Amino acid sequence: MQYKGHAYINTIGCQMNVYDSEKLAAILNALGFHPTRDMDKADIVVCNTCSIRHKAEEKAFSFLGRFAKEKQKKPYLLTVMAGCVAQQEGKNAFKRLPHLDLVLGTQAFSRFGQHIAALQSGRRQIVDTGPADGFFEIMPDTADFCENQVSKFVTIMQGCDNFCTYCVVPYVRGSERSRAWESIVEEIRILADSGIREVTLLGQNVNSYGRKEGGISFARLLEKVAGVEGICRIRFATSHPKDLSSELIQAMTDLDKVCSHLHLPVQSGSDKILKKMNRGYTRDIYLSRINDLKKACPGIGLSTDIIVGFPSETRTDFNDTMSLLTEVQFDSIFAFAYSDRSSAPAAKFADQVKEKEKMDRLNQLLALQDQVTENINKKVKGQVVQVLVEGVSTRLHEKFVKTSDKMKQMTGRTASNKIVHFPSDTSGIGDLVDIKISDAYLHSLWGRPLERLTP
Ligand code: 5AD
Ligand code: SF4
Repeated sequence: MQYKGHAYINTIGCQMNVYDSEKLAAILNALGFHPTRDMDKADIVVCNTCSIRHKAEEKAFSFLGRFAKEKQKKPYLLTVMAGCVAQQEGKNAFKRLPHLDLVLGTQAFSRFGQHIAALQSGRRQIVDTGPADGFFEIMPDTADFCENQVSKFVTIMQGCDNFCTYCVVPYVRGSERSRAWESIVEEIRILADSGIREVTLLGQNVNSYGRKEGGISFARLLEKVAGVEGICRIRFATSHPKDLSSELIQAMTDLDKVCSHLHLPVQSGSDKILKKMNRGYTRDIYLSRINDLKKACPGIGLSTDIIVGFPSETRTDFNDTMSLLTEVQFDSIFAFAYSDRSSAPAAKFADQVKEKEKMDRLNQLLALQDQVTENINKKVKGQVVQVLVEGVSTRLHEKFVKTSDKMKQMTGRTASNKIVHFPSDTSGIGDLVDIKISDAYLHSLWGRPLERLTP
């Protein structure tokens, strides 16, 4: 029997979860559950969860918790916990969520359809945290595409073998495996044919793409993707500093479509902490990679991830992280207070830092980065940048509203990943437009179009 109904999917966590949720949505759609943004209309609710920090995990439990009551009113409602928390908790999830119907681990996604069928025939409290049967991949169904979408994520590898001591990923997502380049390119071709202009290639450590399988390198994969007609921008995340090769830096300079932006998580500026984190590089090695990048790609946009308050981090270690921010001049950072994860080794490390101290350090770090970002953005004032138009801006700039009241305010991004707003009646979503920047703020740039470049 084919089920008819609506599916509500809540995605918590990283870009990879966003990608996985789209694939789960495709499976549900094929089974007759059509996507809805209205939770009250749902016949099935899926929460694709993240366990990287305690807060994300709690968010998943609290979201799914609210359906205990809902199920009393709607006994046919199916509830699913998918992804990293599901993998980590297994059947323990039922202790806090007895009304849950399915716990679907990170490597069980390909079996989602068969578990739904079992639920439909009356089974309850199904748990699947078993291993993957091949690389989970479903080609995009272009019929489901949101109109006017410009950019899509494409997962190129799953899992991680790095075992940074604070991180749950190797435990919840399994060991690293790369997808065949042919199917990556096929997926991107389908996306391009339906109007997608930008892809972001995703993996925990894209620099080691294909290494285990003996396939082509990540730099060569970029070349293949750059060959797909219709795609004008390629981004990727995440790069690991220890594996950032000169071959990749060369590919970034040689391939016009590869955006001049790199997200290179440093985590800490202290050698002592980097060692305890098992990151496999020192502060000097990191800084020398950054230097190579800046030399090879002048004007490159740089971003990073930082953890403050890792066990045994002293004020001196923290100051090393602060000074690294000043030295590198990142365009933006993602900063986190260290969150104890019982399955990661650092949970057992001595000298845990007090919560209040972690928060103080986090706020200090973010305040410093705000200054750095604002200064970098100010330097773009007066420059002409190329923007890929993503949509109509939800933010209005008083100056532009006054001078061009009837014009639409559009928004897009530079290759270096900065958000730009501008007034225009002629630029459409997916266009590449040259914008002269007139105002620069902490979170955005504002300007006016010079001319339309490509349709
Ligand atoms: N606590 C805080 N931040 C963490 N991250 C990973 N694990 C933890 C943790 N236990 C951060 C790292 C990583 C980003 C995705 O999340 O900075 O790069
Ligand atoms: Fe986690 Fe380290 Fe792997 Fe990144 S490289 S996913 S931080 S273990």
